[in-house]
This record gives sequence, structure tokens and C-alpha cells, in this order.
Amino acid sequence: MSRKHPLRSDATPARGRRQARRTTEHAGAVTVRPELLPEDIPLLLDLLARTGRFREAELAVAAELMRDRLTRGPASDYRFLVAEAAGTPVGFACHGPIPATDGRHDLYWIAVDPRHQRRGIGTTLLRRVEEAVRADGGRRIYVETSTQPAYGPTRAFYRRHGYRRAATLADFYAEGDGKAIYCRDLGT
Ligand SMILES: CC(C)(COP(=O)(O)OP(=O)(O)OC[C@H]1O[C@@H](n2cnc3c(N)ncnc32)[C@H](O)[C@@H]1OP(=O)(O)O)[C@@H](O)C(=O)NCCC(=O)NCCS
Repeated sequence: MSRKHPLRSDATPARGRRQARRTTEHAGAVTVRPELLPEDIPLLLDLLARTGRFREAELAVAAELMRDRLTRGPASDYRFLVAEAAGTPVGFACHGPIPATDGRHDLYWIAVDPRHQRRGIGTTLLRRVEEAVRADGGRRIYVETSTQPAYGPTRAFYRRHGYRRAATLADFYAEGDGKAIYCRDLGT
């Protein structure tokens, strides 16, 4: 398995309707645990598939990272945060330190169940990732996505949370489909 699995969402967001907005209080009903459980795997893979934004090959990579974590435990470089509502996973994030760098971390995945998006859960997960990175002595987080217009919502999410576009690699994924690299300095 290669060390680094930068991932991107992969399809046009089909969600035309704007869901009922969740208040901060509602978002507080979601809990986040810094632990991946074996029973999470099928649920999180189903969640990813239902976003309609990831290719089969990307889902296979997600499964691989989850198995790596479960097999190797804390020795794994892939760290998971799982958001739960009423005891059911509704989102997750996967992040880890970039080897041979000084406090640089990658955010490999962040995804929220389509039925629970735009309610602050992604924000909660991202903040928890940042807290974990800080606690680990990390100072900068990188995250990658596609430059295609369909990925506008994902890019808006990162921008909204202080991530700046650090680089753009034209035609990275395919002709006309570039890679946008965002990063955020966490400060000291
Ligand atoms: C990106 C994602 C994780 C955001 O999670 P979320 O719980 O829906 O995000 P939040 O409710 O915390 O949104 C926070 C802010 O991000 C921006 N944002 C999120 N979704 C957006 C959308 N569809 N359109 C425009 N802006 C959006 C907004 O600024 C939003 O703040 P607001 O609701 O006050 O306007 C989620 O939409 C998702 O899982 N998308 C599919 C998977 C994906 O693309 N993952 C990233 C690549 S691995």
C-alpha cells in the first residue's frame, strides 16, 4: 500500500435542495469519537457511496485505510474521527502526519452522510482534526480536491474554514481536471 492516498470527491453534487439548517445546539447532539471500530467499516463505506462522489477505486482505498487502522492500531499513520448521532455514524475524517516533514499533516478524507450535511457536522469534524493535529505538535494541514466546478461546495467548505489554495496542478487527475491543494497554518 502506498503511504499517501490523497482523495477527492468525484461527481457533481446532486443536492439542489437546501436542507433544514441545524443550529449550533443541534450540532452539539453529534458526538465525535477518536476511534474507528470494526463495525464502522460497512457503514462508512455505505455513507461514502451515498455521497455519490467517489469512484469505486476510491472507496477501495478508503476500505484499505480503515483496515490499516484496525489492524495496526495506533501504529497506523491513518487516524480516524467518527461523528455519531443517536449511536450511528454520520460522518468521519481521516488524517495523519506526512512522513519526513516538520509538523505537516494531511487530511485524507472528510465526509458527512448526505442526510446530515449542512448541519455543522463537517465543521465539527474539521475542528476536531485540527485539535488532534495541534495536540500532536502539527502546525499545518494539507487537503486536496478537484478544480472542477462540481467540487465548488467542497472548496467552499475548506475556504470557509480558513484553508487557502496553496497550489493548483492543472490536468492532474485528467485533462481538464486539476488538483487544488489547500492548506491551513494552525499557528502556535
Ligand atoms: C464537504 C462536507 C464534508 C461538508 O460537511 P457538512 O457537514 O455538510 O459541512 P457544514 O455543515 O459544517 O458546512 C460548513 C460550511 O461549509 C460550506 N459548505 C458546506 N457544504 C456546502 C455546499 N454544499 N455548498 C456551499 N457551501 C457549502 C458553507 O460555508 C458552510 O457554512 P454554512 O452552512 O454556514 O453556509 C460534506 O459536504 C461532504 O461530505 N461532501 C461529500 C464528500 C466530500 O466532498 N468530501 C471532501 C473530499 S474527501
